[in-house]
Amino acid sequence: MISFENNVFHLATDDTSYIIGIFSDRLLNFYYGKRMNKVPDIESVLPVDHSRTFSCNDINIDDRRYSTDNLTMEYPTFGSADLRSPAFSATYKDGSAVTSFKYSGYEIFDGKYDIPGLPAVYAESGDRVSTLKIILKDDVSKVTAELYYGVFEDYNAITRSVRIKNDGKDAFDIDKALSLSIDFRRADFDMITLNGAWARERLPERLPVRIGTQHIESMRGITSHHENPFFALLQRNADEFCGEVYGFNLIYSGNFLAGVQRDSYNITRAYIGINPQSFKWRLEPGECFNTPEAVTVYSDCGIGKMSRTFHKLYRQRLCSGKYRDIRRPVLINNWEATYFDFNEEKILNIAKTAKNVGVELMVLDDGWFGTRNGESGSLGDWVPFTDKLPNGVKGLAQKIKALGMNFGLWIEPEMVSPDSDLNRAHPDWCLHIDGRKPTLGRNQLVLDLTRKEVTDYIKSVFDRLLSDGDISYIKWDMNRSMTEVGSAIGGAIAQGKVYHAYVLGLYDVMEYVTKTYPDVLFEGCSGGGARFDGGILHYFPQIWTSDDTDALERIYIQYGTSICYPYSAMGAHVSAVPNHQVYRTTPMKMRGDVSICGQLGYELDLNKLNVEDMECVRRQITDYKALSDVFHNGELYRLMVPIGNNAAVNEFISDDKNTVIVCTYILKGVPNSPYDFVKLQGLDNDAEYMDESGKILSGEYLMNFGITLKYNADYKSDITVLKKVK
Ligand code: DGJ
Repeated sequence: MISFENNVFHLATDDTSYIIGIFSDRLLNFYYGKRMNKVPDIESVLPVDHSRTFSCNDINIDDRRYSTDNLTMEYPTFGSADLRSPAFSATYKDGSAVTSFKYSGYEIFDGKYDIPGLPAVYAESGDRVSTLKIILKDDVSKVTAELYYGVFEDYNAITRSVRIKNDGKDAFDIDKALSLSIDFRRADFDMITLNGAWARERLPERLPVRIGTQHIESMRGITSHHENPFFALLQRNADEFCGEVYGFNLIYSGNFLAGVQRDSYNITRAYIGINPQSFKWRLEPGECFNTPEAVTVYSDCGIGKMSRTFHKLYRQRLCSGKYRDIRRPVLINNWEATYFDFNEEKILNIAKTAKNVGVELMVLDDGWFGTRNGESGSLGDWVPFTDKLPNGVKGLAQKIKALGMNFGLWIEPEMVSPDSDLNRAHPDWCLHIDGRKPTLGRNQLVLDLTRKEVTDYIKSVFDRLLSDGDISYIKWDMNRSMTEVGSAIGGAIAQGKVYHAYVLGLYDVMEYVTKTYPDVLFEGCSGGGARFDGGILHYFPQIWTSDDTDALERIYIQYGTSICYPYSAMGAHVSAVPNHQVYRTTPMKMRGDVSICGQLGYELDLNKLNVEDMECVRRQITDYKALSDVFHNGELYRLMVPIGNNAAVNEFISDDKNTVIVCTYILKGVPNSPYDFVKLQGLDNDAEYMDESGKILSGEYLMNFGITLKYNADYKSDITVLKKVK
């Protein structure tokens, strides 16, 4: 519901209120938090009217007590009296860089706004979703900013995007155009970010917000292993279960900037958007520029509720296509089983054994094309390597299908190897700057996806691979960060656009392939989880979470990922021991119990397992098929998080509330083990629940007394299924 009265907009979801208003032509943020039924008037919510020395007064307000430097601005600009970090700045024809937006009008309409060319959360018919468009104008530069707000009432989320228009007669350069900025009238925040590196992605870090600026960013051309375009602001004493938490996420797969600036007057500015570093977008008269979408959610019950809000919205209204709602196949991937050393016979052997225990899809990873036998050469030459596959990909796919399995293929379509026919034919198709030697990453170059002939080429590769219907799954990999980012086309003016135009080119190809081949399941990947973001999730319903498949490590990685993204989005594979990344040996049961919550797969040669482990795998797959609906469409309660504890406990409750699954993982055995009690959450207090042994426990008991953890041994895990019986 969106209302406008006495110059105040109220954007209300079922549980939250977002209140902005107009004061002397400035658009101010007054409140974001728990739902308010009565909207306060402007006078009572304006920040205290001190005359602040050195804060210049606002040009619109002839009153020394008010300065834009002190007000809670909704879309701050650079160059005038707000001297904090701006959301927007531009350089104009005369070289000046001042923009000063005044309120100029609004529209409210049902449904969700569109962002051409960019992925976004969407509404379906019957959803209670409405849009507020607020128009801001700068009289001098003739720049218009249209602020779009999507209000998802039943999902308790607000989406934002900004459209910048050039209504003047001269071109100008956008230097910075963030998607969201909010000024909170408080300073008692901690900030959580999801940080890491290859093989240890998205580990949560929590730090107090101090005076000054704290931000995370990517300048790698991709979202990166290192920082994710997500952060949360929490009341200092908030935890997993209690307290106020705000979550911010950018639906974008390229360079981002996200952070906070706390000033000296206890105002905290939160912001997120495209990284202004190496971004300069020339806007000709009549043109417009759309920022990616930012999503914000508020929880009054801790981090857990914030995560559940993101999860439901992303599962149901960000992911798209046929596989959004149906169970996806259990797969086996040959990467850790063979690396580059495979042939048709080896792959068929892996597939046959896997089929016998219930695996449904055989995925052939890197090394099937050109003459590729290692990490150099052939990327771009997407023709079968006949030394390994004498009957081609098609021949192998048909043999796999004859076994009663589906067939999937790995590809890294954005790349070109220096040693490839593609590079020899089109040496200027890679990102590069004339006169500079391009830096290699994993011996490869990045194709210039800002060029139509390049994106057309990639589309034609997919047409060749997918049109005969033999391939029903694609793992889309991307294995390097971008350097020397320049394009051979467009001249000097185009160079400031390349990072973002690349992402637009990527989305154009993803849109094409997913719409043209709706029956193919796509999984995103980037050297493990370097592009685990909402942009990819809009097109591909699952993403390879990390190259680290060790069960213990994965508990942390999946925990951190689940702070913002649902388990249904996480590719999770059981691999061999000792683990290839950390050389740790964990039991097969633990490896399965960790992977079963995500999109289950296997990444080992099952022929090498003993009888007992094989039986365990068979059971895991049977259980997974029976329970995946609860893991993927239910609600997650993180009863005990692994950081700071010696166990991790996750509870999943099915959509109909009739099935409850409790997953317990002991991280380390303790001699003469102490007990820990973990209380379940979200159950029906008056109902009774039966476990697999037939034991009946009441909701009241489970939520108040709980279950007992014993730290008897390393890497002990348990999956308990409770069914509501009364
Ligand atoms: C990186 C991926 O994360 C791995 O799973 C594997 O596909 C390799 N690339 C192949 O080169």
